[in-house]
Order: sequence, then structure tokens, then C-alpha cells
Amino acid sequence: MRVLGIETSCDETGVAVYDTALPGSAGLRAHAVYSQIALHAEYGGVVPELASRDHVRKLLPLIRQTLAEADLKLEDLDGVAYTAGPGLVGALLVGAGVARSLAWALEVPAVGVHHMEGHLLAPLMEDDPPAAPFVALLVSGGHTQLVAVDEIGSYRLLGETLDDAAGEAFDKTAKVMGLPYPGGPQLAALAETGRPGVYKFSRPMTDRPGLDFSFSGLKTQVMLAWRNSDQSDATRADIARGFEDAVVDTLAIKCHRALDAAGSNTLVVAGGVGANKRLRAKLHDIAGKRGGRASFPRPALCTDNGAMIAFAGALRLQAGQSETAAVKVTPRWDMATLPVVGGHQDQPLP
Ligand SMILES: Nc1ncnc2c1ncn2[C@@H]1O[C@H](COP(=O)(O)OP(=O)(O)OP(=O)(O)O)[C@@H](O)[C@H]1O
Ligand SMILES: [Mg+2]
Repeated sequence: MRVLGIETSCDETGVAVYDTALPGSAGLRAHAVYSQIALHAEYGGVVPELASRDHVRKLLPLIRQTLAEADLKLEDLDGVAYTAGPGLVGALLVGAGVARSLAWALEVPAVGVHHMEGHLLAPLMEDDPPAAPFVALLVSGGHTQLVAVDEIGSYRLLGETLDDAAGEAFDKTAKVMGLPYPGGPQLAALAETGRPGVYKFSRPMTDRPGLDFSFSGLKTQVMLAWRNSDQSDATRADIARGFEDAVVDTLAIKCHRALDAAGSNTLVVAGGVGANKRLRAKLHDIAGKRGGRASFPRPALCTDNGAMIAFAGALRLQAGQSETAAVKVTPRWDMATLPVVGGHQDQPLP
């Protein structure tokens, strides 16, 4: 089954074709992402109306480009998957409208995908994928969640952030130290040259039981350290390293606890912060020491992309799930309400 995936939930237009007939990572026939970062940079954050309009401009050319790279024609598609939520309503409607119209014209089924389920399943697109049950750590710009995955489509929230998401903490901390928007990846690059232990920040909420997170206080700790420093490039790098170590340690401690709570040694990590090198190394290490393993998507598939939507949609379409022709999106959407893949057909997607 060849499925076109369309992602337009925020500030990236992502398109991909996933072919379920091909094994492992070969299934991803082509994918392309257009990032709107430059468009929003002067505002210091995503402007929803500008995001929607840019998706309108970029989506059709990107679909043509992706099909050409996959050496496929529109008529070769067997289904269309699109991000139906959570996200910015105007941005979601662009993807949903195009996806539904295409499916209608091609007389193929369409399915709305939960954006975070897309992230969560992205590591399963790689070769030698882990099988459920496992624990997933979702660490993106808007979410930090630990999820027990009993089977594909059955998600139990074990813990989540009470304030800032891990990616948001990276971005805000970068801004505090004068790095341009969005600073998360730049802060991580800077941390590579920083010295460990020169600045020591707290590991929030690790001194008590539980699987929730809180990252907003770290940003304040960095702000105070930065203000009271000589503000040199070397100091910026040392602070970046101290901050990154604090976030990575905190995530690792909670992952350990979540694996204990779920009785599992298999960890799946997804979302933009999953591209962080030190986090990848640390989580490989803790899962390995438990006799299990940690799985990540390749770094390009950690942040928003169409491939994860094509893949998650393909699993649901293969299981016989699809929707009526109504163009509907769900900007706020609890992943725990999703039907199990291959489960009961009387549980439609919202
Ligand atoms: N190497 C890295 N180290 C740390 N953070 C990173 C790295 N690369 C990307 N990020 C962070 O990942 C986030 C973007 O990830 P992603 O695209 O998955 O999030 P999002 O789509 O904005 O949020 P959500 O999926 O929750 O709606 C940003 O906050 C960015 O700072
Ligand atoms: Mg995302």
C-alpha cells in the first residue's frame, strides 16, 4: 500500500510517500520538508496566520516534488494520511483540505493522524524496529511525555511536563543567552564545546517519586547565571553544557523510572529533542545496561515531517480505518482516546 503523508500542524510543511510493501526503512520512498523558520524568525515565534498561508503556497509543489522523487504518479497512491491534530487550526485545515480532496479525486481512503502518534511511531520506520509493548519518551517543542505503549494505538500517559516542554526549554534558554530563534539546536551545538561541571543546574523533580517534569525553573537558573557572568563566548558554551546536562540527566532518570513502572526494557524516543546527541548516547546507555535498547528515528525524522504521518496513516489504513469525506481537524486531542490499530471498527477516529 502506497500512502501519501501530509504534515501541516505548525511551521513545517512535510510530505512523504510510505510503501508498506517494502521492508524497513526502504518503505520510505521519498520525503521532503519545507521549514518556515525564516518566515517567523523576525517575530520570535510562530505566527499562526502566516503559517497557514505558507502551507497553502508550499504544499502542492512539495507533493509534486515528493512524488517525482519517489518516481510515482498520483494514480499510484492507495491512500492519503494527514495530520488532523493537535496543532494550529488554520494550518491543520490546509493539510486536511488538500488530503481529503486528493483522496476524493483519486477514490482512495484518507485517514487523519494524531501528530504525536506520528512522532511516537517514527522510530518504527527504521530497520530492525522494536515491537510493542515499550515505553516512549516524546520530547518535542510542545510536548514532554512518557507513554506506555501496550500495542500500536493503545497509549497510557505515565507522566508529562507541568510547564515548559523540553524543546521549549532549549529554545527559551537559548534566547536568554542571545542566540537567534529557534535556538534549541544552536544551544546544543554550543554545548559541544562547553566544559562539563563548570555550571551545575538542578535536575527538576527528580528528588521525589513520580514521572512528571518541570523545565521552566531551569530557564530562570540559566538567566541568573548568565546575568552574573562575564557573558563571554566561552561562558555561554559552559552554561549551555550545564543546561544540556541537566535536561539530559532529568530525562534519563525519568525514563529509567518509567521503564521500571511499565516492567519494560525497551525505550522508544521521538520528537525534536530526540535529535540531541548527548540524550541519544545517555538513553542508549541506560537501556543497554538494563539489557534492553533505545530506538530513535534518524535525526531528520525527529522534528516534524511527513514521513511519520505517512507511516502512522499507513498502519491505520492497512487496519481498515478511514474517514468520511468531511474535512475535520482536532486542534486539541488526547492521544489516549485513539482506537487500537487493528481494533474495533466501531471506534471511528474523531
Ligand atoms: N539537537 C537538539 N537538541 C535539543 N533540542 C533540539 C535539537 N534539535 C531540535 N531541538 C528542539 O526540538 C524542538 C522541535 O521539535 P519538533 O519539531 O518535534 O517540535 P514541534 O513539532 O514544534 O512540537 P510538537 O510536536 O510538540 O507540536 C525545538 O524546540 C528544538 O529546539
Ligand atoms: Mg511536532
